[in-house]
Amino acid sequence: MTMDEGTAYGLAPATSDRELTEVGAGTPMGELLRRYWHPIGLAADAGSVPRPVRVLGEDLILFRDGQGRPGLVHPRCAHRGASLYYGRVEQEGIRCCYHGWMFAVDGRCLDQPCEPEGGQLKDNVRQPWYPLEERYDLVFAYLGPPDRKPLLPRIDVLDELGPGETLEADDSSLGGGGPPIIPCNWLQHFENVVDSFHVPILHGVFSGHQFVPAMAQMPQVEWSVTERGVRVESWRTLDDGRRLRRVTEAALPTLRVVPSPRLGRSGVVESIGWVLPIDDRHFRIYVAGRVEQPGDIGRMRSKMNGKFWWELSEAEHRQFPGDYEAQVSQGAITAHSAEHLRTSDRGVALLRRLLREQLRRVAAGDDPACVVRGDGDATLHFANCGNFITAPA
Ligand code: FES
Ligand SMILES: [Fe+2]
Repeated sequence: MTMDEGTAYGLAPATSDRELTEVGAGTPMGELLRRYWHPIGLAADAGSVPRPVRVLGEDLILFRDGQGRPGLVHPRCAHRGASLYYGRVEQEGIRCCYHGWMFAVDGRCLDQPCEPEGGQLKDNVRQPWYPLEERYDLVFAYLGPPDRKPLLPRIDVLDELGPGETLEADDSSLGGGGPPIIPCNWLQHFENVVDSFHVPILHGVFSGHQFVPAMAQMPQVEWSVTERGVRVESWRTLDDGRRLRRVTEAALPTLRVVPSPRLGRSGVVESIGWVLPIDDRHFRIYVAGRVEQPGDIGRMRSKMNGKFWWELSEAEHRQFPGDYEAQVSQGAITAHSAEHLRTSDRGVALLRRLLREQLRRVAAGDDPACVVRGDGDATLHFANCGNFITAPA
């Protein structure tokens, strides 16, 4: 390079990888994500007050009818389009505020009070809806083709509670390093799960002593592709000479299987996170985890320089950046054409390759990985992920 090469003058406009990032209906990734269940709220979010939710670029209304059944419907009433946001939840479903049409959780129209006999043709109308299932104190939705609907997977580490442990769910984007709704593309965060080398730099130096001291070491890292994701094994040496083997996984479609970076004790991963793409430029994280006391799940929240994200001034955000600052500053959708991936980005490259492979399977009419239907066993086994401490080599 000559001395005056490489200036920013005339920089070509950078582009994003739309195939991997866009989540709307009809886009390749949007269709792949629509082949899996996603958490769209805490169980308590489905209640007698209609709640607007945005998922994969779709605006929807979540509620729970008087019989306890959760429902997820399109907001625009099938009659003449008033929003069910203003609807009233009743024993049998949700009733539109405008002319009183009433819809069950599966969209069937049950009443048209302005019509003779409550609507003789009401069976011809169906409010667009999506199936829901509740598990781990979360409400999961399936937004894909009905004939491709998989079983909602069980997760071994959430099913096997230890003595005195209970399960707790959280919707505050634990692990995101910022507020509950994070203004950038979901993949920037999902890739971070397999980006082991940001830990000693971002968290070990810049964020200000965030985790246990060993996490600040430059780890030895090995990545591998499993049948359902990308697995990372990172090795560090503790002060007493023992070895810390940390096993993390990014699993399809958006699961973050990340052992606590704080405890520094041996043990299987205690929480699972789901990265929910709200739309192309926003995501949030739902977490379910095993806890000893209700409210304990909040102890997984990161601090920067000893403070929570929302306690930091702008100057402190600049001085002690965390995951939020790093990932949001990559851009609302990062410019992939301007990246320079290197050996330490191998996990990111493997994850992109795995996702592209699933896009091809869906485009070819096949199921993507980890889809189980019928009476198959849909349990995901993550008991081999965690922090494991071994004797000195
Ligand atoms: S617009 Fe909903 S009942 Fe008329
Ligand atoms: Fe991080």
